[in-house]
Amino acid sequence: MPAPDGIGDSGLVFFIALAAVTAAGWLTREDPASTRLDWNYQLGVIGGVMLLALLAYPLRKRLRSLRHLGSMKSWLRGHAILGLAGPTVILFHADFQLGAVNSNVALFSMLLVMASGLVGRYLYQKIHYKAHGTEITLQDLKDYLGTSKHDVAQAPFMSAEALVALQRFEQAELPQPAAQGARAWKILTLGFRKRLTQRAIDKLLWQDRVAHCESDGFGRIQAEALWNYERVLSRNYLEAVRVVAEYQIYLRIFALWHVIHIPLMVMLVITAVVHVVAVHLY
Ligand code: HEM
Repeated sequence: MPAPDGIGDSGLVFFIALAAVTAAGWLTREDPASTRLDWNYQLGVIGGVMLLALLAYPLRKRLRSLRHLGSMKSWLRGHAILGLAGPTVILFHADFQLGAVNSNVALFSMLLVMASGLVGRYLYQKIHYKAHGTEITLQDLKDYLGTSKHDVAQAPFMSAEALVALQRFEQAELPQPAAQGARAWKILTLGFRKRLTQRAIDKLLWQDRVAHCESDGFGRIQAEALWNYERVLSRNYLEAVRVVAEYQIYLRIFALWHVIHIPLMVMLVITAVVHVVAVHLY
């Protein structure tokens, strides 16, 4: 089974380093000996430019003329780095303190968009799978499900009851697209339901093996070997159903996330412009 595309070791190191720098900034925020205050204005400009620069990613995504400029993955990585480092610089610019109302609104809008970005990154990695270096699609996962289902159905001596239970699990967990939104929360317990079904199927398979040992002409060792083989096939099927169900639901949540993220982003732009104008006017 392919694995989701995670943030990687370097991403984790970057994240931890940034968290450490932020914590250090927070702990020394009232230190009068700090030279940081001398750089406040410049830090605001640098952080602002970083936030503007991260908008290159949606541009790269949408503009055909930029298509030849690097992979989307690298651009998104750059976007995430700027999306975390930019707000960190702005926090230093604000010296980790609240100020005038317009500054506070801009600051919280930025933190909200950054937090939303982190959620988006989590959802993104749930629907970007890689197998042998190539990204795989929902259709690839559905094909894998079809193969696992076929393997189970074609297995000789497979218990009819276990087959029915497996198909019931698929019907229950793979709803029609219209019903997917309403079932989104069920994703939290999908793994648990899969394990319960797995246990029930193991039992059904074993009961079937014991009941048909003699008529199928198997000794105990052969029956156990066959049981293990059938368990592997049924586990593959259940896992394929889980992966497809999870992918479909995350796809819908991610689409919803886009709808929320863009207005937050617009709010950030407006509040940042108001802040910059207010700072220069008063
Ligand atoms: C203040 C900081 C941030 C701003 C202003 C910002 C802004 C944006 C914008 C405008 C988009 C494009 C939405 C679209 O194409 O429909 C986007 C997408 C995205 N951002 Fe951010 N973002 C920020 C921080 C972050 C952070 C910190 C991360 C991850 C660690 C992140 C991850 C993403 C992801 C995964 C997407 C969706 C990519 C896709 O659908 O192709 N963002 N962001």
